[in-house]
Amino acid sequence: MKSVLLRLFPHLIGLLPLALLSSDALGNRLTVNPIQYLTQRTGWFALALLLATLACTPLNRWFGWKQVIRWRRPLGLYSFGYACLHLGMFAGLDYGLDLSLIAQEVVEKRYIIAGFGAFLILFPLAFTSTTGWQRRLKHWWKRLHRLVYLAAFLAVVHYLWLSKDPRPALIAGSVLVVLLLARRMPARRRVQPSLRHPDMTTTQAGQSRHDT
Ligand code: HEM
Repeated sequence: MKSVLLRLFPHLIGLLPLALLSSDALGNRLTVNPIQYLTQRTGWFALALLLATLACTPLNRWFGWKQVIRWRRPLGLYSFGYACLHLGMFAGLDYGLDLSLIAQEVVEKRYIIAGFGAFLILFPLAFTSTTGWQRRLKHWWKRLHRLVYLAAFLAVVHYLWLSKDPRPALIAGSVLVVLLLARRMPARRRVQPSLRHPDMTTTQAGQSRHDT
């Protein structure tokens, strides 16, 4: 039962924003500007889930929570899903898919350039997130997926440049810096190489391989 709940947890977290947005829509709580409301909310959820994805490795390294490593892929994919909805709201609902108008916005507004940059990075990461691609790309997979930090940085810059009040974006930026620093610090509970059994279990091996 516990293991089922642990496996379901990232999906509950990932689907919760959708449930909240649906409840807002059904309860007529989308404000007087529903497109802006939905664009802002989906952007916020995409960033929050991206930071949650990046928190998994430090949580594993620092507290030895093995299961969180398996949460990275679903959380990252949910973040990308909300980023797609976010872009869909902006391009489809706000700009009626008018490509010349959208291109003009991308060139003119620096916050759109940063958001677009973040999305362009997230796209190949989501596409190559499967075990098959991991095997095909070998060590390049790890290198490619480190770009997730650049995507998160660009998303924070996007948030900072578009907001009148910089505080929420600065909080998100601080969380990102803490997560980056936590990656660089030595793990608290690390198994010394000499103490490792030569035949590491699949989980342990997978864990170290996935420890990006
Ligand atoms: C594809 C490129 C993107 C475009 C064109 C875009 C566009 C926008 C627009 C128009 C807004 C609302 C501005 C407003 O009226 O207040 C917004 C807000 C936001 N976007 Fe994006 N965005 C993009 C990508 C992203 C990505 C990839 C993320 C995160 C991973 C993101 C996170 C946010 C956040 C956090 C907000 C602010 C939400 C709030 O005000 O609470 N955006 N974006």
